[in-house]
Amino acid sequence: MYRVNTPLRYPGGKQRITPFIQELLNENEIDGNYVEPYAGGAGVAINLLLAKKVKNIYLNDSDRGIYAFWYSVINETEKLCGLISDTEITIDEWKYRKSLIKQNSEVDLLELGFSIFFLNRCNRSGILSAGVIGGIEQAGDYKIDARFHKDDLVSKIEAIAEYRQNIFITNLDAEYYIKNYITELSDDTLIYLDPPYYEKSSELYLNSYLKSDHGNIANVIQNDINHKWVLSYDGVPEILKLYESRRSFIYDLSYSAGKSYKGKEVFVFCDDLILPISCTLENVNAGLAIL
Ligand SMILES: C[S@@+](CC[C@H](N)C(=O)[O-])C[C@H]1O[C@@H](n2cnc3c(N)ncnc32)[C@H](O)[C@@H]1O
Repeated sequence: MYRVNTPLRYPGGKQRITPFIQELLNENEIDGNYVEPYAGGAGVAINLLLAKKVKNIYLNDSDRGIYAFWYSVINETEKLCGLISDTEITIDEWKYRKSLIKQNSEVDLLELGFSIFFLNRCNRSGILSAGVIGGIEQAGDYKIDARFHKDDLVSKIEAIAEYRQNIFITNLDAEYYIKNYITELSDDTLIYLDPPYYEKSSELYLNSYLKSDHGNIANVIQNDINHKWVLSYDGVPEILKLYESRRSFIYDLSYSAGKSYKGKEVFVFCDDLILPISCTLENVNAGLAIL
């Protein structure tokens, strides 16, 4: 079992599917590049890199705040860790960090990256638009710093930063990224796409897709990617329809993000991806969970 190596809490964070992605890498004899066009907390990518299952990870997210955080982990490690160690975890600081996030594009990447991280660790379920743990009055059982274990977070960031030569981060729209940025990577590459959910997405993330965007990106994914890929989504009929010509299976999902979300999630595979034995066509067609 992988421990959680990413320092970001992320609603719907996928680190728990790392063993499955690792199986896909093994079956397809891929150990070079692993790409996440919708990186968010990048839980799977960080696990794979630290376990040396792949040489390079490519993390892209169109949200400047998320990018700023990963940028700071890699390029401003010492300053970011200094901010984490030295900043008092208070409601006043929380308000200040929230105001910086509102100014977004005017704030430099280190300050923005730390502010995103601060709210990610201090807000309920790591959701940026949610309230602070314990409430503004701090009357709850859990207080603002309940998830802010400074030493542990600093050591996670330092461990990741040691691999900075092997981490490639970008702040692009996924469509552009797919069509222009990753095309030249070698065949020794797996792409894992985890787009914003079809439903509930705008509650969870700052950047989400309109309904029509899901159709557009489905075309891009199925027609323009020249590497092996796997995709995960909420398993709603609209999404299943968009990918009906591909192999897929549905698995049960339940996680807590403020309120608890229960539902089905779907994996979709590109045609030439070899699936692990646990994931035979029979299972896939029957929609059996193998996680
Ligand atoms: C479902 S989350 C990814 C979660 C991630 N797999 C994890 O384990 O933490 C989707 C991410 O896609 C990003 N995003 C939304 N629209 C995007 C777009 N058009 N291009 C690139 N990233 C986008 C969001 O900012 C969000 O971080």
